[in-house]
Amino acid sequence: MPKDRVLVTGGAGYIGSHTVIELINNGYEIIIVDNLSNSSPDVIPKLKEITGKMVSFVNLDIRNKLALQTFFKRTERIESVIHFAALKSVNESVEQPLAYYENNIQGTINLLEAMLENKVNSLVFSSSCTVYGSPDHLPVTEMSPLGHTPSPYGYSKQVCERLIHDTVHAHPELSAISLRYFNPIGAHKSGLIGEVPSGPPNNLMPYITQTAAGVREILSVYGDDYNTPDGTAIRDYIHVSDLAAAHVSALSRLQSSDKPSGVEYFNIGTGKGSTVMEVIRSFEKASGRPLDYKVVGRRDGDIEAIYADASKSKEILKWSAQYDLDDMTASAWTWEKNYRGIN
Ligand code: NAD
Ligand code: WQD
Repeated sequence: MPKDRVLVTGGAGYIGSHTVIELINNGYEIIIVDNLSNSSPDVIPKLKEITGKMVSFVNLDIRNKLALQTFFKRTERIESVIHFAALKSVNESVEQPLAYYENNIQGTINLLEAMLENKVNSLVFSSSCTVYGSPDHLPVTEMSPLGHTPSPYGYSKQVCERLIHDTVHAHPELSAISLRYFNPIGAHKSGLIGEVPSGPPNNLMPYITQTAAGVREILSVYGDDYNTPDGTAIRDYIHVSDLAAAHVSALSRLQSSDKPSGVEYFNIGTGKGSTVMEVIRSFEKASGRPLDYKVVGRRDGDIEAIYADASKSKEILKWSAQYDLDDMTASAWTWEKNYRGIN
């Protein structure tokens, strides 16, 4: 007898696809809804290959309210939703704010309406440490104040958290968990799926692996004059498979009688900050090759340091990260090599 059937919006994407594996391995039946705006249909057969199970996939844009309503009406037994579907590029969101607000906010409104109408009462939302802005105190706890988020992307995550909060308040039958991811990197141990940025990557890890693969000429390190041990900025990198496992814990929490009503917020990070140079050194160790990089000026909008206090997740979700930075960089490199056909 399978556990609940879980709707995974954005399940063909980077984090969604890794989470689908964890869910299937934990006995959940899943159905992916994705418009493939930032992912490839090729991931679906890979998920079948990894899990040995059928993976249901529906090509649907959650901005299309009617199509989403029809999907919910026609699909039986959806018990929970994990909502990954969003646009996620900070830079692009500054250039195209309305596209980001429409996709991320209107998409979430449509989803909540469809859930309410069809009595689907459990939601896990993909939030981000970006909601904390530039924190005054480290590590950040879930009680840390939300900060100024200069990009429309970051603001869309704050708005979605608020609209989920207000909807759950007005409809107490709905229960939600917001997972605030820190910096997900790495790839599944099979090497069959991983991150595929469209165009030049904005994020550090794919820029490193693409530079090593010869796709990019040189990595620019954005600033070495921060008040950190080696002058480069600090982030809390988290293995994407650890992050995926946190969603299984969140679903269990939603189903447990211990969960209080309303929304619960959890930081999903390792609790350990690493500098940009530490990531580069770890990658060089994992790949056995030196990386071409140069230090340039700070990137606009970057913060000096952020890392999680992940103790609430450990205590309540019974989840904590299993992989360290070397595991993350090694798996990212395995994936890049497989993807590029490098031996
Ligand atoms: P991704 O782009 O790889 O995955 C998102 C998926 O959603 C893609 O497959 C895309 O095609 C789909 N999608 C987008 N808009 C859609 C729509 N309107 N209808 C249907 N499908 C749609 O991104 P990811 O890195 O896997 O991120 C997943 C979630 O986690 C996002 O909500 C993102 O904001 C959040 N998040 C990501 C990071 C990160 O660094 N990757 C950090 C914190 C939070
Ligand atoms: C990490 C560090 C850069 C690229 C972003 C989003 C955030 C969240 C996670 C979704 C920083 C440095 C980077 C490069 C570099 N996403 N860097 N050279 O900025 O922490 O967060 O992704 O919610 O919202 O803003 O991640 O990977 O871009 O950068 O030196 O080519 O690497 O300056 O210190 P960031 P990142």
